[in-house]
Amino acid sequence: MKLDQAYWTERWLKGETGWDIGHPSPALIDFAVNHIPTDARILIPGAGNAYEAEELLHLGYSHVYVVDISEVPLRNLKKRFPDFPTNQLLHNDYFNLEGYQFDFILEQTFYCALNPSLRDNYVRKSYELLTSDGQMAGLLFDFPLTEAGPPFGGCYEEYLDRFSRYFEILTLEKTNKSIQPRMGKEFFFHVKKKKPTR
Ligand SMILES: C[S@@+](CC[C@H](N)C(=O)[O-])C[C@H]1O[C@@H](n2cnc3c(N)ncnc32)[C@H](O)[C@@H]1O
Repeated sequence: MKLDQAYWTERWLKGETGWDIGHPSPALIDFAVNHIPTDARILIPGAGNAYEAEELLHLGYSHVYVVDISEVPLRNLKKRFPDFPTNQLLHNDYFNLEGYQFDFILEQTFYCALNPSLRDNYVRKSYELLTSDGQMAGLLFDFPLTEAGPPFGGCYEEYLDRFSRYFEILTLEKTNKSIQPRMGKEFFFHVKKKKPTR
């Protein structure tokens, strides 16, 4: 099955959006408030309804960008929050995003939604989109890699191996900040871009 724009838009239009928690992710907001200055450029990839983006703007973060391959959730966000800057709503494939640099990328159920064959590209693309001091943080599922998905699973060793090729690992641990239905099933990670080796 091709997990392309048509696939995701159909899921959005049919309301098959079981991933949507309906409110800002407490773990991501808590991280932002404690680690991200309000003038930082923040990207939420595969953002869906992006409740976090809305909350971050309310908290004084003015450079929050969201990217989604489907226009439907971007329209939802604009409907809920008409003042959200239109130029910060990016209707694009994450892997085609060019011409932007961010200080932080916040991840939630995007990595696990991609075809697992794209995981190395995802880490490399995230590296490219970040400034030299850029950081990335968010939640990653802890269940064995599945044939069927999305979501596709992943484990500690995989995340450590994949992210440490491009990033210094600051945190990768089971979290108690998950929403209740995901409690015990997620890692929180926080990584910082490695300096290029000469
Ligand atoms: C499982 S949902 C997660 C949405 C959101 N992160 C959340 O936690 O509610 C995955 C989202 O990624 C989007 N998506 C899938 N592939 C994408 C790609 N290559 N580039 C950008 N967005 C993509 C889908 O349209 C969908 O909104």
